[in-house]
This record gives sequence, C-alpha cells and structure tokens, in this order.
Amino acid sequence: MSALTTETQRPRVLVARAVFPDIVTQLARVAEVEATPDDAIQTPERLRERLRDKHGAFITNSERIDAQLLEACPLLRVVSTMTVGVDHIDLAACAARGVIVTHAPDVLTETTADFGFALLLAAARQMSEAERYLREGRWNKWRYDLFAGADVHGAVLGIVGMGRIGRAIARRAACGFDMRVLYHNRSRLDAGVEQACRAEYRSLDDLLRQSQHVLLALPYSPAAYHLIGARELALMRPGATLVNVARGGVIDEVALAAALHSGRLGAAGLDVFEGEPTVNPALLAAPRVVLTPHIASASVPTRRAMVQLAVDNLAAVLRGQPPLTPVRV
Ligand code: DGY
Repeated sequence: MSALTTETQRPRVLVARAVFPDIVTQLARVAEVEATPDDAIQTPERLRERLRDKHGAFITNSERIDAQLLEACPLLRVVSTMTVGVDHIDLAACAARGVIVTHAPDVLTETTADFGFALLLAAARQMSEAERYLREGRWNKWRYDLFAGADVHGAVLGIVGMGRIGRAIARRAACGFDMRVLYHNRSRLDAGVEQACRAEYRSLDDLLRQSQHVLLALPYSPAAYHLIGARELALMRPGATLVNVARGGVIDEVALAAALHSGRLGAAGLDVFEGEPTVNPALLAAPRVVLTPHIASASVPTRRAMVQLAVDNLAAVLRGQPPLTPVRV
C-alpha cells in the first residue's frame, strides 16, 4: 500500500475512544487526529458520521465495523483495534473493500491468563459471595461448611480454545497448581506443543464430562454461538465450575443461570456477557457466580501495550509500511 501521507495532504484518523493520550499523541506525526477526550459512547450512526472523511480508525471492541459503515466511509483504508478479538469487525466486508484490519495479539496473553485463573479460583472458592456476606454483616460465627467450595489444585481442568491464552492458562494449571489439563480446540495441537502444555486432547463432550473445572478461551465466531447450552451444561460433572474469558455469546446465559439455580453447576466465573455492558438479569440473580466487567486484560502495563501496538499498526499503514499484526482473513 502506498503511503497516505504527502507533504500537502495528511491522512485523517479517528481515535474513537479516550485511551492513554500520551500514546495517542504519537499519531500526530503521521496524521490529523480526531480524538474522543470525553470517551462518549459511539452509536453506529455517530461512528459512521465521524469516520466519513477518515482514512484510519483506532477502535476498541465496543465499536462495530460493518458493511453499512464501510459503505458510508469510502476513504477508510485501515481499521486498528486495540483488542485481540475481532468479532466486532466484518472482516469479509473489509477485505472486499481493501480495508486493512489490524489487532493486538500476544501483548495481553499473560495478563488475560492471570485473570482467567483468578476467576477460576474466585468462582470455585465462592469469593464474591463470601465477601458480600461479610460486608452485609451476616458473619456471626465460624462454621465448618461456610462457603466450602471446590479445590482447584490437583483437579482436572478442561480448556476450550487452546490458542495463546488457553496455553498460558494450561501452563499455570499444570506447573503451578498440579492440575491435569484436558483441552478441546478446532484442530489438535502438535504433539510437542501438547507436551509443553502438559495437555491432553478431548472431544468437547468428553472434556465436559471429565473436567471438574471448564474454562472457555476460544475466539468468537458464529460457530461458537451458544456452544455451551443446556445440553452441554448437563454433560458437565455435578458441582463443576465454568469460567468464561472468551466472549459472552459462547454461553447460553439463561441455561447457565438455570444450572446454577438448580445446584447442578457448582460455580461460574464470567468476564464477558452476550449483551454487554448489559448483563442478563438471570445471571445477576444466580447464586455462586463471580461477574466482572470484561477486564481480563486490564492491567495498566498491558492496556498500555495494547494501545501502543494499535497505534503502531495504524501509523505503519498510514506511512505505507506493512502493519505489525494484521488480521488475516
Ligand atoms: C480482547 O482483546 O479481545 C479482549 O477481550 C478485550 O476486548
């Protein structure tokens, strides 16, 4: 791609959200930047309007890029999302119009894996409910069974989605917590990688039947919609834990709430929700569930690294150089 910058006409970019202004400033070297200091929510109409005369876009996972938007924004050449997930972008529509899409893999892997593991521990040991109980002044005596949950160390962990994050979680589980790790993935990993992760391949159904804790870390696609529904929840071991750091749409949330209410499922830890930031009231009312607002990658160094990579990708394309981490369709 030829450089969009010339002496006379600089490209225009939209930074659709308020993100680390000291990093965003770097874009001024290559483009006219329209920032969003108030961090206002970008409705599809507003985003379309603001991108109409832009060559590049910096977005988060809250801004949707679809065919309708691309139609209205003929100058757009590059969309850079600060996330690793790209389910908010119509990749086929971008490819059809020659719009380059970049994302931010790798930089968030370990931080997200830390959080996935933290959610597993918090859910299995009922930390959120125990803290609420204490704060509400309901703790009046020690009891042998007070918030007695499931052990994580030494248990069987099933990981669905064995990409970078799934593997980082497997390492923590096998090396740090002496867990037996099962995994399910679209394609089976090489024997060497399986060995390095100390993970054994299973079909999804077998993984659900055999695991005491199940953790979802797969990329979202229409094929993953409600992958875990009533049937799959019924396959899980009684008292098992379900953790989701993938995307909310992977789980049928109503079926999950029912499995928690019935006591069939031991606990759940959810960082992502189908209609986020709205959370299904059925989940809010369910017992033994830890709910967090999509923050698995939210350590300060990692969020800075994500923004930096997205800015670097955008700047590279605007200069006519290859992007560092393009999304390949
Ligand atoms: C990602 O990068 O995809 C995380 O889920 C944050 O959106």
